[in-house]
Amino acid sequence: MKAATYQKYGSSDVVEITEFPRPTIKDNEVLEKVYASSVTTADWRLRASAFPLYAWLPGRIMFGLFAPKSKVLGMDFSGRIVSVGADVGQFKLGDEVFGFAGNGAHAEYLAIREEDAVVKKPACLDYDEAAAVPFGALSALVFLRDFAKIKPGQRILINGASGGVGVFAVQLAKYFGANVTGICSTANLQLVKSIGADHVIDYSAEEFAAADETYDVILDTVGTTSFSQSKRALTPSGRYVPLEFGLREIFQSLAPSMLRAKKVVIGISGDTQDDLAFISDLLERGEIKPVIDAHYRLEQIGDAHRRVESRHKTGSVVVSVVPSDSIRLAAA
Ligand SMILES: NC(=O)c1ccc[n+]([C@@H]2O[C@H](COP(=O)([O-])OP(=O)(O)OC[C@H]3O[C@@H](n4cnc5c(N)ncnc54)[C@H](OP(=O)(O)O)[C@@H]3O)[C@@H](O)[C@H]2O)c1
Repeated sequence: MKAATYQKYGSSDVVEITEFPRPTIKDNEVLEKVYASSVTTADWRLRASAFPLYAWLPGRIMFGLFAPKSKVLGMDFSGRIVSVGADVGQFKLGDEVFGFAGNGAHAEYLAIREEDAVVKKPACLDYDEAAAVPFGALSALVFLRDFAKIKPGQRILINGASGGVGVFAVQLAKYFGANVTGICSTANLQLVKSIGADHVIDYSAEEFAAADETYDVILDTVGTTSFSQSKRALTPSGRYVPLEFGLREIFQSLAPSMLRAKKVVIGISGDTQDDLAFISDLLERGEIKPVIDAHYRLEQIGDAHRRVESRHKTGSVVVSVVPSDSIRLAAA
């Protein structure tokens, strides 16, 4: 099968289209023909070995000390099931699905366990739209619900509101009943309003910490704020929740809670099937929707990586593995 592979860590140029063995499935797995995927910030970090300093060695031990262990990147996927393992109960041949895999989705076929983060694709989304969802939506859900512990009526400030996680954080925070302020650049103010933010702050014109507003939660998806800068803008029991964090935030989060009413909360996103089913239901009901920055063909994957590495994408960068015209023709 055709796959985007990388043999060594490095720039976008290390990713090449090659022939790669098609995965075989175990009894508890399904084989999916991948129609679309996306390049996420996690794919960029793995490809470039761009881990925070404290996580560099553990990251290299986990993903390959001298060269990547898994040669095919790609976490978000959508497609159709073409083979089903003997013990699989919830999927059948031909099912249209979408989901989140640890790797392997930048290829024509992907094997995944049926209990992993894979669910039926909402009919209201095409394959490209579905592939734009899992990474951003699952991260936003876990950070808002489990780490920020967002509640109806709370005020939340989201830095990076137009990014891959940010666009879902804005929509999910609204769904959870919060009053949302999004920080983004001038070019993205309209987008962030259109997905539901009650207020927007243009980071090139305004300094959020200098204003008199306070927030119950400050969620930073970019890493351009700090706890000390944010304290003034937090309510007395407010939570500062950075998605990108270093040793400083790790130590701050460990301070005994009686010493700090205002907290730093850090964590790692999860990817469960139940959470993806919850997201899928919200998509079906029109409560949330994907935002797509750009579409690339699998052969253009290097350009997709470059776009992601710019850190200025809006929502998701989608990679069509099977172009949508071919899907329409095959279905006709
Ligand atoms: N801890 C975890 O488990 C976890 C899970 C998921 C993601 N993450 C991390 O979270 C981060 C966010 O991921 P992502 O996919 O959302 O990233 P992304 O899509 O690359 O986000 C980029 C966004 O940042 C904004 N931005 C750039 N410079 C800015 C500035 N100076 N001030 C405010 N906003 C600025 C950009 O907006 P403009 O174009 O408008 O400037 C863009 O919308 C990544 O570092 C990722 O590794 C961590």
